[in-house]
Amino acid sequence: MPFKNISACVFDAYGTLLDLNSASMRCHDELGDKAQPLAELWRAKQLQYTWLRSLMGKHADFREVTESSLDFSMQTLGLDDASLRARLLEFFEVLAPYAEVKPMLEDLRKAGMKTAILSNGSPEMLKNATTSAGIDGLLNMVLSVEEVGVYKPSPKVYQLAVDRLSIPAENICFVSANGWDAAGASAFGFQVAWINRAGQAGERLGFPPKAELKDLSGLAELIS
Ligand code: 2OP
Repeated sequence: MPFKNISACVFDAYGTLLDLNSASMRCHDELGDKAQPLAELWRAKQLQYTWLRSLMGKHADFREVTESSLDFSMQTLGLDDASLRARLLEFFEVLAPYAEVKPMLEDLRKAGMKTAILSNGSPEMLKNATTSAGIDGLLNMVLSVEEVGVYKPSPKVYQLAVDRLSIPAENICFVSANGWDAAGASAFGFQVAWINRAGQAGERLGFPPKAELKDLSGLAELIS
């Protein structure tokens, strides 16, 4: 199904524009065969903590959740090294963008499309991340869940994009590589593109995306 009447493209950040694995892979020499298990457990626990805190009504920002989920993961994998912990957290602040991100954002801007990030990240984390990734100049807006004090997939988060952009949900294309985030955005009323980088099965939540892509390279053409 084609996308219709899109005025803005709103992106998830971590895993969608920014390569989550780049932090632990930069410590691969020290981590060895623990690099991949750590990357996977850290991300899974980080997301679990966002969902649990939202359900509990006990919000803490993404930097706190990122640190506490790393502590859980390092202990689970028998890693007790304060300097390694500090380096992993430092690298998480400056994750590498996927290769196709900048050209895609440039294409969208040339087509007159508004672009924004809507992310669990704290404002400071997102400033660090977009600046180091060199994409801050390609975004009209960077929105953090800190403005609403609850994590995705709460509808309050997606509503923030509608309010700050002053664009109705049906005219926004939301883009995420996180299937659960894509489902939440689709349930809210965005036209959704799921970037299925890992070739995963689709979520069975009853709110499918309008399109499934393997990366972001074909997005601009699809929605302009
Ligand atoms: C983000 O909000 C879901 O962590 C992902 O950027």
